[in-house]
Amino acid sequence: MEITNELIDDLAKNAQLSASCFNYQPWNYVFVYEKEILTKLFDALKESNLWAKKASMIIAVISKKELDCVIGKSREYYLFDTGMATANMILRGTELGLVMHPIAGYSHSKAKEILGIPEEMVLITLIIVGKKTDDLSELTEKQKISEGKRPLRKALNEFVHHNHY
Ligand SMILES: Cc1cc2nc3c(=O)[nH]c(=O)nc-3n(C[C@H](O)[C@H](O)[C@H](O)COP(=O)(O)O)c2cc1C
Repeated sequence: MEITNELIDDLAKNAQLSASCFNYQPWNYVFVYEKEILTKLFDALKESNLWAKKASMIIAVISKKELDCVIGKSREYYLFDTGMATANMILRGTELGLVMHPIAGYSHSKAKEILGIPEEMVLITLIIVGKKTDDLSELTEKQKISEGKRPLRKALNEFVHHNHY
């Protein structure tokens, strides 16, 4: 799959449509598509994510607490705001026919070192980007099942509260 500057700008523009606390826009993205760096980054993946080695691009999603509102002791908004922006990006990618899977299964320190991400930043997720394929040979049996059928969600009454928690 060819990665173009137009595609990257399109994904980034859709991410930044998102709202953020005080319009701080705490999100940062590294779009990794050069074969040499991608191959290095594959080495940072956990064993269960070796399917991701087929990726045409990996998007590193980065932020830190200080880039966004911190209200009181517990409300740190950088993860929420970066998550909202990244969800917009994933929706846009899906609209363009891409498959974009966020993952948490990688070595944080290794991936940060490979991409030159400063020590104080948090590498929140890697988004594995590719085109949909019928070749599922890289997947475990369990992964093949979940790829064909979306995992069950909770019943609404397990998380929807009316008027009172
Ligand atoms: C924060 C986060 C971390 C995830 N980490 C992994 C992972 O390490 N490996 C993996 O195969 N899937 C991981 N997933 C799940 C895949 O991205 C999943 O296939 C994708 O979200 C589609 O799921 P759905 O069919 O339930 O919507 C993660 C998802 C999220 C949101």
